[in-house]
Amino acid sequence: MSSQVAAPFAQLATPDAASPLAGPRHVAIIMDGNGRWASSRGLPRVAGHRAGAEAVRRAITAARAAGVQWLTLYAFSSENWRRPATEISDLTGLLRHYLRHEVAELARGGVRLVIIGDRTRFGADLQAELAAAEARTADNTAFILVMALSYGARDEIVAAARRAAELAAAGTLDPASLDEAGFAALLATAGMPDPDLILRTSGEHRLSNFLLWQAAYAEFVFLDVLWPDFAESHFAAALAEYARRDRRFGARPG
Ligand code: IPE
Ligand code: IPE
Ligand code: MG
Repeated sequence: MSSQVAAPFAQLATPDAASPLAGPRHVAIIMDGNGRWASSRGLPRVAGHRAGAEAVRRAITAARAAGVQWLTLYAFSSENWRRPATEISDLTGLLRHYLRHEVAELARGGVRLVIIGDRTRFGADLQAELAAAEARTADNTAFILVMALSYGARDEIVAAARRAAELAAAGTLDPASLDEAGFAALLATAGMPDPDLILRTSGEHRLSNFLLWQAAYAEFVFLDVLWPDFAESHFAAALAEYARRDRRFGARPG
């Protein structure tokens, strides 16, 4: 089945977990708390989202400085479409602004931008800008920035199951041969290493439909900081906490 599925990151993804002494190779962040940050200042929610976009820059800098190779940012969930139309249009406007103003710098800095999520729910113009940003940075390998946009893990898993069923119906996949690796290759994250560390800001302790499959053995760190206040020191503190964890992957304690 692997011949059916593109694994565009195969050159970077190695199958085994990072050595326990090494820092995380892949960090994923649930960037939460923009609205509370704004309301605590008597500002409209959009001001929080704007300040949150600044924090994205700090997260990238901190991740790169720490030698992290993959950074996945949860920017908009499949459930966030339930928000008022005005907030959705503020968020898509900010995304468009980010693409127009930051992609050149990402490209210069050796960053590859990859989008996961159901982009078909965005307008055609934004979809074209997303595709252009990915194409422009596609040859970079120094650092991979994955943006989860209109992303929902259940959606992703159902789409993979549907695809597997289609391949089986077409006779190109033997259901008995479908294993974890084969199924993972049908997910939006095909070819990416699983996240070693998942951070969530804002004090909430939940995944909110983020990377449910990929998080099977991730370490979790929940930070009591609202996303717009996220600083490089928070990233460093999370890495220090990660370094204290004992990752066993089900094996006997060492
Ligand atoms: C995170 O901040 C950004 C998105 C989910 C798009 P929120 O907008 O969820 O902020 P809070 O959680 O209401 O404070
Ligand atoms: C999760 O935050 C999604 C993102 C950060 C993009 P939410 O604010 O949407 O999550 P809930 O609703 O508090 O679970
Ligand atoms: Mg929130």
